[in-house]
Amino acid sequence: MDRVKEKVAIVTGAGSGLGRAEAVMLAKEGAKVAVTDINDASGMETVEIIRNAGGEAEYWHLDASEEKECKAVIDAVAEKFGKIDILVNNAGITGPDVTTEEITEEDWDRMFKINVKSVLFMTKHTIPYMRKNGKGSIVNTSSLSGIIGDTELTPYHATKGTIVIMSQKDAVQYAPEHIRVNCICPGTVMTPLVQGLLDDDPHYLDNDIKRYPIGYFGEPDDVAYAVLFLASDEGRFVTGTKLVIDGGYSAQ
Ligand SMILES: NC(=O)c1ccc[n+]([C@@H]2O[C@H](COP(=O)([O-])OP(=O)(O)OC[C@H]3O[C@@H](n4cnc5c(N)ncnc54)[C@H](O)[C@@H]3O)[C@@H](O)[C@H]2O)c1
Repeated sequence: MDRVKEKVAIVTGAGSGLGRAEAVMLAKEGAKVAVTDINDASGMETVEIIRNAGGEAEYWHLDASEEKECKAVIDAVAEKFGKIDILVNNAGITGPDVTTEEITEEDWDRMFKINVKSVLFMTKHTIPYMRKNGKGSIVNTSSLSGIIGDTELTPYHATKGTIVIMSQKDAVQYAPEHIRVNCICPGTVMTPLVQGLLDDDPHYLDNDIKRYPIGYFGEPDDVAYAVLFLASDEGRFVTGTKLVIDGGYSAQ
């Protein structure tokens, strides 16, 4: 119940899928959670879920790819809750499913703005609060697509690979200040994001499942438990790691 008791956490993209599961899990384990998203209705629904379960949460509208909004929301969260212990950089999109020959510069830039600059801006403006706090834990959301190649979602792979090295770089930089930076690399987890890919191609996952030795896809809580560990003091000696959550996919 109390694995992150009294800690203050910010989760981006917490209105859906993994972000919602992570926000709910952190609140269940005692954190005060700043739920942020671009979708106000779903973000507020996450807050309701947390409050109905007896947890503490507040909603802020936040497009995490906009630096000014990131700073304003981070300042407001620190003002409201008094400090920031945990940042979960979860917001992200899959973008166009195209090859390298097909990608446009516009789509490439948009993907890096949403998936990568969001991590940069949120980290940049949270670090001063964590420094003041004497420690902190940042969990960035990469993907299985960030550590292996594939024939799909070219810019998505590139952004998620970038997040791995950003996490390792920041881990080394901020470790002396006891600010830990890790990333998670989930395989396929059934969320609205994956449903969107299935809507585009109903056979999207037909062959995919054969590549999962464990025989099933992940559920949002499988990822939320990993985030909880990295966010909590149980992970105090863990920084710069990429925690792969993929049912053995990448072990082959
Ligand atoms: N579901 C999977 O299989 C899977 C696997 C590996 C990694 N991931 C990553 O996990 C993260 C969450 O994925 P999901 O499956 O829960 O997706 P999702 O689409 O269900 O949820 C994403 C949430 O992010 C929000 N969002 C989108 N752009 C935003 C922005 N600019 N600022 C703030 N919020 C924004 C959306 O409104 C939505 O609530 C993403 O970074 C994704 O790449 C997902």
